[in-house]
Amino acid sequence: MKGVILAGGSGTRLYPLTRITNKHLLPIGDRPMVAYAVEALVKAGITELMLVTGGTHAGEFLRLLGNGHEYGIDRLAYAYQEQAAGIADALGLAERFVGDDLVAVMLADNILEMSLRPSIERFGSKGSGAQLLLWEEHEVNHLQSLGVAQFGDNDEIVRIVEKPSDPPSKLAVTGIYLYDPEVFRMVHDLEPSARGELEITDVNNFYVEAGTATYDILEGFWGDAGESIDAYYAVNDFVRTHGANKG
Ligand code: G1P
Repeated sequence: MKGVILAGGSGTRLYPLTRITNKHLLPIGDRPMVAYAVEALVKAGITELMLVTGGTHAGEFLRLLGNGHEYGIDRLAYAYQEQAAGIADALGLAERFVGDDLVAVMLADNILEMSLRPSIERFGSKGSGAQLLLWEEHEVNHLQSLGVAQFGDNDEIVRIVEKPSDPPSKLAVTGIYLYDPEVFRMVHDLEPSARGELEITDVNNFYVEAGTATYDILEGFWGDAGESIDAYYAVNDFVRTHGANKG
């Protein structure tokens, strides 16, 4: 399985911090944010990674990660996203790198307390379709700023609703997505959303409609450090006290 780390975007929710750097280079605990996504995938056994970024600070990722060997990566590739055109657009740049393999996609502002290894291994055995990683959130306010899963009678996902005013469940879709290579065909078929971006939730809904989307519910803490300044500090406080990518 290949890994793709998405570290683009304009980071407007963290202005003015992100006027001078890429969001994913801001510190969390003792490391730049992106280092946690790298560690999460490497600890789960993924050693071929592509980092997708854009904007004016792309070169700093090279300075930080280099050829990746220091981080346990065998092969580290980079792609440059010309415009902040959405998560699915960024993923599309990894098509040739991923080839016919399975792919674990991770947004570089997502931080996990526990290891991704069990989910990655389960998806490796499943071998096709998509596997989404969900996280239980009880605050309606927070659910309203995320993708949220809606379930059918047999606990299967029937739809992902992006930033719902009335969340259909308490299970949020995190920024960790496990896909088969069909994902790139779906990315090609996407139309831009109202905000002019190719949305990862539309990709996930393709899999849901095809009946090939399964899910895991993450244990322990999950945070999106790029959501707001408050979220950034909440994730920082958590990591400084409890650590990340454990087990
Ligand atoms: C994105 C996804 C959303 C998901 C979130 C997790 O939102 O669109 O479904 O819940 O990442 O971090 P964004 O951060 O782009 O608003």
